[in-house]
Amino acid sequence: FHVDWDLSAAEKGGFDWFMRKEIYEQPKAVADTLLGRHTDDGALTLDEIRISETELRNIAKIIIIAAGTSFYAGMVAKYAIEHWCRVPCEVELASEFRYRDPIVGPTTLVVAISQSGETADTLMAIRHAREQHARVLAICNTNGSTIPRESDAVIYTHAGPEIGVASTKGFTTQLAACYLLGLYLAQVKGTMYGDEIHAVVKELESLPPLMQQVLDNAQPVLDLAARLVDQPSVLFLGRHVGYPVALEGALKLKEIAYLHAEGFAAGELKHGPIAIIEPGMPVFVVVPPRGRDQLHDKVISNIQEIRARGARPIAIAEADDATVEEFSTTVIRLPKVSTILQPLVAVIPLQLFACELATVLGHDVDQPRNLAKSVTVE
Ligand code: G6P
Repeated sequence: FHVDWDLSAAEKGGFDWFMRKEIYEQPKAVADTLLGRHTDDGALTLDEIRISETELRNIAKIIIIAAGTSFYAGMVAKYAIEHWCRVPCEVELASEFRYRDPIVGPTTLVVAISQSGETADTLMAIRHAREQHARVLAICNTNGSTIPRESDAVIYTHAGPEIGVASTKGFTTQLAACYLLGLYLAQVKGTMYGDEIHAVVKELESLPPLMQQVLDNAQPVLDLAARLVDQPSVLFLGRHVGYPVALEGALKLKEIAYLHAEGFAAGELKHGPIAIIEPGMPVFVVVPPRGRDQLHDKVISNIQEIRARGARPIAIAEADDATVEEFSTTVIRLPKVSTILQPLVAVIPLQLFACELATVLGHDVDQPRNLAKSVTVE
């Protein structure tokens, strides 16, 4: 009697790659990250924040520092934090921050986002900030790693171990933690009413099942990967919080499919990128929900411009948005969520697309060439 026991297949839970498994773990990872962060009456309690509320009320500026995918989570956080807390918030690459002379002091809160907690540039950047008396808060997935140990406060993401080099559940749990931080600061600073905060927390908590819906309806995006296998280059457009999602979609494709991919702010199309659009070129467009502002309609006109030049717009748009259909060659549907939380669902098709395309191309998805999971040297 002989049992074939493939340890690695078992660890991957029936998936071909850790990355794909981790993409599918996201609803649970995000739910776990949100768990137990507020009292029954809706007040947020982030007990890992060892910075007094008085100090937090006096924070005059926030600087988010990170690298890679974590940097894009930070870009999303900026929109949420400035909108909810009315505090100026900058986002900077750790590798840039550490070599300049930033204006930082005791009323600056530096937020370091790092899945591993060991990225050398991010670690050096927080040391640089602390020397200038900034308070440092880490958003991190690895208990007891160096970055949280050297910070004044930490919000742990509860993604569980992330094995695939290209970050997926690391990213969405960072988003969840950033939203919690923004709401917590709004509560402490009094920039939002309790019931407003409660409403956003409730919506956040409703997101994991919606993320699951996106995963359950992934077939069109997997088919698309099989069809686009010969493309030399893929573009990604987004606006507002959809812009970092576009950048992350492009990064995923570079990391594991080794394709030339670029993300652009949709409003910048006319300032250069539109010149490289070729007939047949796939262009993913993250379409904002139809809200009260003009964001949505502006992005629809971008889709028309791309289509007019013969490219193939692939719209990532909410379920009942019929306006995308006329000018898009493919529409990937998202559940209805508010604009600011949309990255939690919008990034999933882009992750799946990259994973599938890299698989079809025959690459090692979990261990892409030249990349490391955690870059602990400069
Ligand atoms: C490396 C990884 C990326 C990650 C980045 C930042 O480049 O390959 O997936 O986003 O480091 O890592 P961190 O652990 O600081 O979030």
